[in-house]
Amino acid sequence: MKKILVTGGAGYIGTHTCIELIEAGYEVVVVDNLCNASKEGLKRVEEIVNVEIPFYRVDVRDKTGLIEVFKQHKFDAVIHFAGLKAVGESVEKPIEYYDTNVGGSFILAEVMRDFNCKTFVFSSSATVYGNPKTVPIKEDSPLSVTNPYGRSKLMIEEFLQDVFVADETWHIALLRYFNPIGAHKSGLIGEDPNGTPNNLIPYISQVAIGKLDKLSIFGGDYNTPDGTGVRDYIHVMDLAKGHVRALQALENKPQVLIVNLGTGNGYSVLDMVKAFEKASEKTVAYKITKRRAGDIAACYADPTYAIEILDWKAERELDKMCQDTWRWQSANPNGYPRHK
Ligand code: NAD
Ligand code: UFG
Repeated sequence: MKKILVTGGAGYIGTHTCIELIEAGYEVVVVDNLCNASKEGLKRVEEIVNVEIPFYRVDVRDKTGLIEVFKQHKFDAVIHFAGLKAVGESVEKPIEYYDTNVGGSFILAEVMRDFNCKTFVFSSSATVYGNPKTVPIKEDSPLSVTNPYGRSKLMIEEFLQDVFVADETWHIALLRYFNPIGAHKSGLIGEDPNGTPNNLIPYISQVAIGKLDKLSIFGGDYNTPDGTGVRDYIHVMDLAKGHVRALQALENKPQVLIVNLGTGNGYSVLDMVKAFEKASEKTVAYKITKRRAGDIAACYADPTYAIEILDWKAERELDKMCQDTWRWQSANPNGYPRHK
């Protein structure tokens, strides 16, 4: 059985991916420093899959700590989710963002090389396309970044490509996620942001549950069908499956695989409000306010390369994404218990 190290495996995408990996027959070990997660998420994953997951509370910047984990397990591959992800915060705290995201990836790659584990699946982001000139976005579209978070992702992509140039025995996947939402169908795990959410769906779901009064829609004057921002929302379980497919595709040959993980469908903020109201049977109060700095009008994937190269396509529709988010949110109005 192949053994996979999942860094950041206690977080939102990490927990869901652990389920897909285990269901696909992989053995999973998790490293997470729990700076944005609780042990409870992993405990619930264990409940869902009925498998114990070895867990190490280790920071990916802690080389000695990582070496101890690699001494205890022989990994076939690493899926690297661990990192900081809030765009606004990255502008305030560039040192922390570069240190964790870029520095953590350097140290991880070094330890992997030293233990001869050369399969690296990296969580990149559609943010590396900046403000795209055309949509849908293909993988060879021009790259540009406008904030430290995005720049950290692009730097890691470039670093990993350099690693491959120097040693062509690596198997590397740079997975560019669009906007992950939704939750496992059990309602036991889901996205659990700290404090007031920055992202649209966590914010909408907290309005629907009554924790927040009203959604502010950031801009009603974009050049989109209804004037509000358009994004490619993808169910987190589809995204998780994309990681399993990426591991399988990497097995065939050493390479750097760069692939969009999106649905190809663009939905506006108002579309999302309507879909969530339908799923939750609640009213989502909103007001249209000014644009958020750094936001773009429209961003959605051209998913054809993923279909071709990974034999992977997102399957779950928008209604299902909203229903699953709502199941999680309504069963866990305050997220996971906050003992970390
Ligand atoms: P998340 O915050 O839920 O998960 C990240 C996990 O990494 C958390 O459990 C956190 O505790 C852990 N972590 C952070 N710094 C660490 C460190 N130094 N050492 C060890 N663990 C550490 O976020 P997520 O939404 O699951 O995102 C996972 C990855 O996907 C991130 O790299 C993120 O940048 C990327 N991504 C996310 C989105 C999104 O919208 N959610 C979009 C594109 C890319
Ligand atoms: N929005 C609102 N009100 C809110 C929150 C968001 O109107 O309270 C709007 C935004 O203006 C945007 C859309 O909802 O039009 C989606 O916004 P999100 O903050 O949910 O997501 P973004 O597309 O801005 O960014 C997300 C991640 C980034 C990642 C990017 C691409 O936060 O880290 O997707 O993957 F880079």
